[in-house]
Amino acid sequence: SRATITADRDFTVGPVPRRLFGSFVEHMGRCVYSGIYEPGHPAADRNGFRRDVLELVRELGVSVVRYPGGNFVSGYRWEDGVGPVGERPRRIDGAWHSIETNAFGLHEFVDWARQADVEIMEAVNLGTRGVEAARALVEYANHPGGTYLSDLRRRNGAPEPFGIKLWCLGNEMDGPWQIGHKTADEYGRLAAEAGKAMKLVDPSIELVACGSSNSGMPTFGTWESTVLGHAYDVVDNISLHAYYEEADGDVASFLATALDMDHFIESVVATADATRAAGKHRKRINLSFDEWNVWYTRRPGQDMPDAITERGGWHEHPRIIEDAYSVTDAVVVGTLLNSLLRHGDRVRIANLAQLVNVIAPIRSEEGGPAWRQSIFWPFAQMANRAKGQILQLATSGDRYATEKFGDADLVDATATWDEETGRLALFLANRGLEECAEVSVTLRGLDTSRVARAEVLTVPDGTDRFAVNDEQHPDRVHPEPLDGVVVDGDTTRLRLPPLSWATVELD
Ligand code: AHR
Repeated sequence: SRATITADRDFTVGPVPRRLFGSFVEHMGRCVYSGIYEPGHPAADRNGFRRDVLELVRELGVSVVRYPGGNFVSGYRWEDGVGPVGERPRRIDGAWHSIETNAFGLHEFVDWARQADVEIMEAVNLGTRGVEAARALVEYANHPGGTYLSDLRRRNGAPEPFGIKLWCLGNEMDGPWQIGHKTADEYGRLAAEAGKAMKLVDPSIELVACGSSNSGMPTFGTWESTVLGHAYDVVDNISLHAYYEEADGDVASFLATALDMDHFIESVVATADATRAAGKHRKRINLSFDEWNVWYTRRPGQDMPDAITERGGWHEHPRIIEDAYSVTDAVVVGTLLNSLLRHGDRVRIANLAQLVNVIAPIRSEEGGPAWRQSIFWPFAQMANRAKGQILQLATSGDRYATEKFGDADLVDATATWDEETGRLALFLANRGLEECAEVSVTLRGLDTSRVARAEVLTVPDGTDRFAVNDEQHPDRVHPEPLDGVVVDGDTTRLRLPPLSWATVELD
């Protein structure tokens, strides 16, 4: 197939939002326990943080991490996770049918986040709790001292405030599965009042209201306008969640799911802006795509709560949804990153769900190794290489038909331009399963003349598109140099192998 891409330095979407490269640590399965935290592991530091996992997190280039849930947060008491570890209560976590020991809580997460060099995005429980617990958590975390809660934090070993700027007002409150599920009016009022009380404690914080759990929810659209109708003035962002999977043998549609993400984002932007106009508000509400990934919900053996309940018993950190990701999944994740980047003027926060073991780019075994999944690569490449301004791209080229989303481009691309370093970064996917793609990129006014680095991730020799990394073959799927990239004046030509994800940097 063929594709032609044109960019001009004067046509930009806006600066690359660093928070676009966020991730998510939930008290779910083995994300925390035996994921980021495993005292007794040979690689654990004195806090019990796995240094092998920390190194991979840093390499992944994650900027912000949402914590502690997810569905978990809607039944969580944050007070259980602070104070002397030996005195913390064991609790039932209804969301994931697990036992929560509370050995890991807010202070541990703050220490871990400092070591991982990530910003914290803290979620409050608006399921079983409300205004007072949310307000108190902000005081505990962010007030310098001299009040009961801030002094409690100090006595618990943190003299300096945590300074957490980014807060989620609950999680997926539109979902009937959510503990404390609410109607849009109930939630909108609660979010407005909780948010107001939180900002009265610390006016510098930024708030994310829950949008829809996915765009297929029956209330999608009306939920956003009703919630923002109540909480527009107090919140800064509205959330989106989406998980995609290859189903019914329809790989063509799966490879085009970024079109669904584009549509979802554009619909929420339209809804937020319509609410802005109707309410005569001045500020704009931005988007926080704070859960996204590939998730094989329909595969047999997926240990979702029902499956765990059926199996019986209550366990600490059971193995839940530890999806193994293939080359195909990595290409799709690359295109989902492209969708987020293309909308970087309004999507200011995004979190790949989750970080370790639970539908994650990083896997680890208890007492064993940690390794990168296939989807680690597109994320790490874009998080580390997308710098400066997002460029608007004019693309034309061959397309293919999909059952779910109509026609889709065979080549999907985004680009960033960093004025300071004079570096252009291109992120390209070839959705064609059989054919190479001949790509020609014309860059106007960018003065690039040299290939600084070009890499491609595709089906490894001797395997197929379902190839994954695992404990025995942790490096089976990984990027290789992309040869044959030719810069000719302002035009760069390259060839993408079938089913591939490539990054090309020019300067
Ligand atoms: O990321 C896994 C779960 O998916 C989260 O707990 C929930 O918010 C979503 O439904």
